[in-house]
Amino acid sequence: MTLTLLGIESSCDDTAAAVVRGTDVLASVVYGQTALHADFGGVVPEIAARAHAEKLDLCIEEALQKSGLTLPELDGIAVTAGPGLIGGVLSGVMCAKGLSAATGLPLIGVNHLAGHALTPRLTDQVPYPYLMLLVSGGHCQFLIAESHDTYQRIGGTIDDAPGEAFDKTARILGLPQPGGPSVEKAAAAGNAKRFKLPRPLLNQPGCDMSFSGLKTAILRARDSVVAEKGGLTPQDQADLCAGFQSAVTDVLIEKTRRAMQAYLALNPEKRSFAIAGGVAANGAIRDGLMQVCAELDTDFVAPPLNLCTDNAAMIAYAGIEMMQAGHRDDLTLSARPRWPLDQRAAPMLGSGKKGAKA
Ligand code: KG4
Ligand code: ZN
Repeated sequence: MTLTLLGIESSCDDTAAAVVRGTDVLASVVYGQTALHADFGGVVPEIAARAHAEKLDLCIEEALQKSGLTLPELDGIAVTAGPGLIGGVLSGVMCAKGLSAATGLPLIGVNHLAGHALTPRLTDQVPYPYLMLLVSGGHCQFLIAESHDTYQRIGGTIDDAPGEAFDKTARILGLPQPGGPSVEKAAAAGNAKRFKLPRPLLNQPGCDMSFSGLKTAILRARDSVVAEKGGLTPQDQADLCAGFQSAVTDVLIEKTRRAMQAYLALNPEKRSFAIAGGVAANGAIRDGLMQVCAELDTDFVAPPLNLCTDNAAMIAYAGIEMMQAGHRDDLTLSARPRWPLDQRAAPMLGSGKKGAKA
């Protein structure tokens, strides 16, 4: 039977609701909060939680209206129950519980990372097992997805996520936020070789990554140019951006190559590698990863950007797979600030400005 679910997402700085039937996204609505946090240099958890609480009803109403369905016509309600900023996750979970209690619809608590990790199945029906790279402002990890509830995390960042590093680099160089697109744009006119920047952990075994040292290196390089010339020219900015982007790309490519070895050792019937997260929009990174896939005769799957970044369609879809497998939650469902997808792997350290890292 094809299930139709409402999805609700509020774990970071996007309030989102969606209605998904099988693999058809009937409606997906995202209310961003970028403007609310713009003055603070990062997401302020209390402001985010309040904005989610204020906007969730409107967002859900709009998604239902766009889908042409009413609550009684749905089969269930899926909500992000973690990991993320706890106030926001709580807003979504309480809202979903209220709707479930009022309508009698089944409630499913979804791991936000599972939402991202299952997106290639929503968009491209990719068969298990596949390799996934989640790369955004808050996440950076390699996962082998074996089923809707079995994931092997084979590496991830030990400090900042790459999106966070792009954003900080933009701030250091006086470029607008979000940093990813402005750094990429500036990098197009730059010489990546002018500044010697580190490739942290590149030669260490394994698939773990580190991006915070790179940001410090950019700060030092900027300071030495400013000390020498009294300021940065647009060409200096472009060269620093190009150097930074090329360092991040080199690290992601090399670690992807290694992650692919671990994945291919499972002898998957169909070899697939998928990306998700805002950083996946970066042309240089995307081209590099496509190249690795071509070398290893593996399908490269890149869902459309609106389904790569935070959204509720991925939550609804993950809920559909979970419900089909017999999973149900009840009104005791709780919000979890930390909730690693791979329960066996050692926990990752730290929590970024965009929430918990694993
Ligand atoms: O997935 P996302 O929308 O939000 C979460 O982090 O959850 O990702 C946003 C991140 C930001 O850090 C942004 O700077 C980065 O993705 N980003 C990019 C590009 N577009 C967005 N990074 C590099 N290149 C881009 N073109
Ligand atoms: Zn996310």
